[in-house]
Amino acid sequence: MPSGTYLFTKNFLWGCATAAHQVEGRNENNTWFAWEQEDGRILEGAHSGLACDWWGGRWREDFDRAQAASQNAHRLSIEWSRIQPAPDRWDEDALDRYREMLIGLHERKMTPMVTLHHFSEPLWVAEKGGWENEAIIELFAAFVMKSVEALMPYCSLWVTINEPNVYAFHAYIEGVFPPGKKDPKLALQVLAHMVRAHARAYHIIHDLQPEARVGCAINYRGFKPAGWFPADRWVAKAYSRLFNDTFPRALHSGLFDSIIKKHTIPGAAGTLDFLGLNYFTCEQVRFSPLAMGAFFGRRSFPQDALLSETGMIAHHPFGIIDCVRWGSQFGVPMIITENGVDDQEDDLRPQYILEHLHDLWRVIQNYYPVQGYFHWTLVDNFEWERGWTQHFGLWGLDLETQARLRRPSASMYADICRTNGISSDVVEEYAPQSLPKLFP
Ligand code: BGC
Repeated sequence: MPSGTYLFTKNFLWGCATAAHQVEGRNENNTWFAWEQEDGRILEGAHSGLACDWWGGRWREDFDRAQAASQNAHRLSIEWSRIQPAPDRWDEDALDRYREMLIGLHERKMTPMVTLHHFSEPLWVAEKGGWENEAIIELFAAFVMKSVEALMPYCSLWVTINEPNVYAFHAYIEGVFPPGKKDPKLALQVLAHMVRAHARAYHIIHDLQPEARVGCAINYRGFKPAGWFPADRWVAKAYSRLFNDTFPRALHSGLFDSIIKKHTIPGAAGTLDFLGLNYFTCEQVRFSPLAMGAFFGRRSFPQDALLSETGMIAHHPFGIIDCVRWGSQFGVPMIITENGVDDQEDDLRPQYILEHLHDLWRVIQNYYPVQGYFHWTLVDNFEWERGWTQHFGLWGLDLETQARLRRPSASMYADICRTNGISSDVVEEYAPQSLPKLFP
């Protein structure tokens, strides 16, 4: 068996991604907190509670872990409801706390990437109609202005909105995120407002910080036709157009084209300095005339797919190549802003990471400009409507004691970050089943 190392490009960013509500704990003034109080909204009636206790200061020990594991970057999000707890009130202490975190990253020689919106809004924003009401665009703009002004000495890499496509889909079509509606028309309205909010944020950040790099993080999902029927092909294409394309295309060309609705959004064209790609899995889609509320499609995984512990993710590493090729149409550098798998026992994760990174390496060899990889995630966290049932961390978390439990993947990923590559030794040690594929 040949041996060697697949080396990544110089200055490649290696890190993990986290989101405020999922790790901070005691976030009690946002839409997710309210959602957690309603019966039946979160699996097993769970609450985010103390989460990973970052607000209590445990970000320090987690950043230490990441640094000791050779990570040179970290993606985190800031919580709007902490910074602006009421329409007429800014909390300077909260901003100080985020400042400290960003300085903490610099002290550990890690590049920060900050996400300004990751699925949660202040309750007072929700009371005004949240993303359904176009007034949110100016509210968000004020929050961005205040936060970026405060944090720009410590950050120049910004993600405006995390996964607007997932947000619109989960909150307004599937109804599993707050406000729990099932109204495709509203979903498109929300998405269009998010395009406008992104564009406003992009220009505000560049006015404040000309050297900033601003992007969004899109969840790319590969949709393949389930069969050979033309209707399956049509529906798979329509899914991809709607879910994957609508948002970034609007930021690229200024045209919001959701098949059903087409209009130009002034100021949106050319508002991406980089594209953040969150890639987890691919699905197949079958046409179904009965699935009216789901745009006539039924989604599933292929029968022979290797599934994650809770069945939410099918192991399909080649999808990351599709994802990067797809992302290249927007003509800007790309960063993998999330990729990972739920796996408490760490059975699949080493293979998942290695095979995805190997395919990422392959696509980079074909001159696709990918500048970094952020693993989802550092420590097990509050997984939204799935509560604490999913374990995406390189480290596990004992919720009772807040102890962190190192999984083998943490050491494996550390080796990859340290050497800036995937060596045959690492594959042999952590996922020997991948050797024939990676080092044939
Ligand atoms: C989201 C994360 C989430 C992860 C795993 C991504 O879509 O950005 O917040 O925890 O998926 O479900």
